[in-house]
Amino acid sequence: MHDIIHRLEAKREAARLGGGQKRIDAQHKKGKLSARERIELFLDPDSFEEWDMFKEHRCTDFGMDQGEKIPGDGVVTGYGTVNGRLVFVFSQDFTVFGGSLSETHAEKICKVMDHAMKVGAPVIGLNDSGGARIQEGVASLGGYADVFQRNVMASGVIPQISMIMGPCAGGAVYSPAMTDFIFMVKDTSYMFVTGPDVVKTVTHEEVTAEELGGAVTHNTKSGVADLAFENDVEALIYLRRLINFLPSSNREKPPVLPTDDPAERFDHSLDTLVPDNANQPYDMKELIIKVVDDCDFFEIQPDYAKNIITGFARMDGSTVGIVANQPLVLAGCLDIKSSIKAARFVRFCDAFNIPIITFVDVPGFMPGTTQEYGGIIKHGAKLLYAYAECTVPKVTVITRKAYGGAYDVMSSKHLRGDVNLAWPSAEIAVMGPKGAVEIIFREEKNDPAKLAQREAEYKEKFANPFVAASRGFIDDVIMPHATRKRICRSLAMLADKQLENPWRKHGNIPL
Ligand code: HXC
Repeated sequence: MHDIIHRLEAKREAARLGGGQKRIDAQHKKGKLSARERIELFLDPDSFEEWDMFKEHRCTDFGMDQGEKIPGDGVVTGYGTVNGRLVFVFSQDFTVFGGSLSETHAEKICKVMDHAMKVGAPVIGLNDSGGARIQEGVASLGGYADVFQRNVMASGVIPQISMIMGPCAGGAVYSPAMTDFIFMVKDTSYMFVTGPDVVKTVTHEEVTAEELGGAVTHNTKSGVADLAFENDVEALIYLRRLINFLPSSNREKPPVLPTDDPAERFDHSLDTLVPDNANQPYDMKELIIKVVDDCDFFEIQPDYAKNIITGFARMDGSTVGIVANQPLVLAGCLDIKSSIKAARFVRFCDAFNIPIITFVDVPGFMPGTTQEYGGIIKHGAKLLYAYAECTVPKVTVITRKAYGGAYDVMSSKHLRGDVNLAWPSAEIAVMGPKGAVEIIFREEKNDPAKLAQREAEYKEKFANPFVAASRGFIDDVIMPHATRKRICRSLAMLADKQLENPWRKHGNIPL
């Protein structure tokens, strides 16, 4: 017995060292933590239960049967807790064959994913890998596909979050791409389908790995990633914060965090947030921060398609998803990128029982050939589709403009908005007054005084919330300072909302 315990300890020690101290030091030198240090920092202290620590690869090609077999085979897997709530985790170990994915490495990931599905808990992937284990060839590709299949089956059932903390290239990017959120670490992580060398050969472009697929690129240009962090530590702390907002599965309601922030708190500074001049912008984030619990707003994709704001917050303790037009950027217009960004966020909230609060100040869809050629019709329809199929509680507050098709799209009453409120400054109309009179009274275009008078008439008639309210499209016109109170009351009223869509295999969202 003594011997076997000794052997066990020795085996554990070997597994903990991964590819060896030299490679761990090299990892540190790059500013990266090791796979185990990341897990330790991410999970509650002493909560990690490791599985498959002794699992080894079975490859015999290219001398792999002669070389050293490192127990664990390049990925640390198991489960633990985040603020007491169960999560499953896999953390790729770059010190073992560059964290590359072998058949057995994939089996370990699949095992935690399968358990996470059975018990209903999130799967967190800490990715740091050179991709497919080159020595294993197609066995490794099969392993990837096994993970992909599970990603898809788990989508909308349990939250899946990918942290990119090193290389992630080739087909390997497609597992993170199918998860709900992707976080990246600046300067040490990158994602691309083909690296700079292949790019140079095929397209003759010269580009660095950072420019091609670094954290800044994917958070500002491509929209592939949701957040970028300075280093591993900051990234893991924010990952814990995100998990605090989310339910463990689609079988649960989101967790409640008791707050001292009164649900009926007034904020009188909101009464002057919207400028008198309808063309002057203001910061919609100020409204969000002032309305949610304890000013705590966890923004998703803050650096991409900034004309729409998405993120999580709490109202009277319960998680909500916030979608808001941002008048500071492109006047808050909906374009291709912002429609896709918001549609994906709305669908995540709907899948995981998170009520959606929508703040509307939108002059319409962005005009122009760039948008039309890019397919704004199809991409804008994604947001329309997402709101329309969504069955979670939906509370909408129109602060200023709600023009045209964008009025319909932004969680309007017609798309089963549950509670639709408007500030007195709301303007709900087919289009802005100037554009409207220039079309209706085209024959008066050479008479500026007449046109100005028509514009004033149009403004008087339509640039207000009362026409929509008289039809019941708006449930009430509220004072801005009472926004938090009215939303909290609405959410309390909707707490037991039941609504189901008709049975179908799946809808056909315009992709
Ligand atoms: C086996 C690998 C490996 C891999 C790295 N290593 N990638 N071993 N399979 N894919 C090993 C290296 O041999 C080295 O071993 C150690 O990991 C560290 O690698 P370095 O090159 O020294 O590190 P670094 O300079 O930081 O460069 C990292 C890297 C580079 C950029 C990831 O290693 C690289 O380009 N690797 C190959 C990437 C690749 O082409 N992967 C296949 C992509 S195709 P030692 O013993 O020296 O420490 C793919 C298909 C998936 O993934 C399809 C799914 C559908």
